[in-house]
Formats: sequence, structure tokens, C-alpha cells
Amino acid sequence: MKAAFYQFTPSFGRKEENIAKVISAVKGADLELIVLPEFFATGYQFTSIDEVADLSEPIPDGNTTKALSDLSKEKGIYIVAGLPEKEGDKFYNSAVFTGPEGFIGSYRKTHLFFEEKLYFSPGDTGFRVWDTPIGKIGIMICFDWFFPESARSLALMGAEVIAHPANLVLPFCPDAMPVRCLENRVYAITANRTGTEEREEGKALTFIGKSEIVSPKAEILVRAGEDEEALMIVDIDPKTASDKSLNPFNDILKDRREDIYEG
Ligand code: ACM
Repeated sequence: MKAAFYQFTPSFGRKEENIAKVISAVKGADLELIVLPEFFATGYQFTSIDEVADLSEPIPDGNTTKALSDLSKEKGIYIVAGLPEKEGDKFYNSAVFTGPEGFIGSYRKTHLFFEEKLYFSPGDTGFRVWDTPIGKIGIMICFDWFFPESARSLALMGAEVIAHPANLVLPFCPDAMPVRCLENRVYAITANRTGTEEREEGKALTFIGKSEIVSPKAEILVRAGEDEEALMIVDIDPKTASDKSLNPFNDILKDRREDIYEG
């Protein structure tokens, strides 16, 4: 299965321009699943609830989800992408999953990071995994990685590939994901962004790039640079992620000692 990410620098607030950029990057590419960054079409650093309200969209009826569904249908590909979601008077940091049939489903970020807590509600969907012709695909968003329970929950639900839209600012994730993949025997596609946003003076956020695709054996199959725009594609075999045995005696899910663990 040809798995990919697209790392780039979204321009804050310019949804149409960012979506057009994605469409032109993906159009000629030979791939089956692509992961885009968290908030890929809006930018990240909101400074007021009015701004959030203005740039958020209902899912699946908003323009961004429709554009992704159309791209998925036209190319016959699966896409996972992050966007701010509006439902009633609440906002969520969400990701949508689209495929050749159109909209498939969405996930709301469980663990909000930093000032996201000012504007967004914590996700209430729980983790989700979809069984598709290209594999069992689960989603977590950015800071969810910091909590081992996220990837573990997805692995216990049967995910073979974790699609991981991100807007990373801390330096740890790229080197931590091989451990998440190893301890759960899953693939992960982390799609981060690049660039700096300083929408209020003195509050600059620099995004660290280094998007990557990691194997269940902790191999970094591809990794982008810190500051480059990059569409990277690698052939993976999701079925290998359903084998949780390390040797004839150890199976990393069956060997868990829930009778001993706290929490
Ligand atoms: C993050 O969750 N955007 C760091």
C-alpha cells in the first residue's frame, strides 16, 4: 500500500489557497493513503474565539471536508486531514477520513495542547479505527502521541496504520514515534507542518517538520527535513502489523498484565 504524507507551510486563514496547494501536490502523485497536517487548511495559532468560529466548519458538510471527499473520489485515494470542527456552539480539533466512496468518518482530538484549551472542547469521539480495503486505519492527532494510551488504544482496536496529523512544536515526537510503533507493532504516518506563526507579538510558534512514516519494527522508512515542503511516499504492508508476536513466547498484546497495571 502506497502511504504518504504532505508536509508544507499553511498560510493562516487562507483556506482556499491551502486546499488548492494540497490538491496540486496530490494530483499527479501515485499513492493510496495520504495524511495531511493538523489544521492543514486554516493554520494553527488562533487568537480569539471569533476567529475559531469563523474558520471552523461542520463535518461532513463543510467546504474543506467536501474538497477532500472530492479529491478522494476523483483519485480513488484515502485521505486523513486535520481541521477545526464546529458543532452547535462547540469547537473541536478534528480530523476527517475520506476515501474513494467519499466521507468515511471523523475523530476529535482527545488530548488538547497548550492554548487549544482556550477555544476547543476535548474530543468526545474516543479513538476510532476503520477497516478498509487498504488496511485498518486509526487516527490520533498531534499531542495525543504524548499519551501512550492513544496508540495503545488504537492497537487494541485493531489499527494497523495510525494516521497522525500534527502541528508539532516540541522536539520529541519524531524520535518517540518509533517506540510507539514498536510497542504496539503498528505503522504510523506523522504529517507535520513547517514554518512559524506569530499571530500575537512574542508568542511565536515554530513547527518542527520531520514528518515521517515508521514501521512496526521501529524503522523510520522516510523522514522529511525540518523546514522543507515534502510529499513522501513509501510502500508499506499493513497486514504485517497484525502480527503482535516477538518470538514463540511473547505477544505484545496478549502478554499485557492488566491485573498488575494501575489506571
Ligand atoms: C499539538 O498538539 N499541536 C502540539
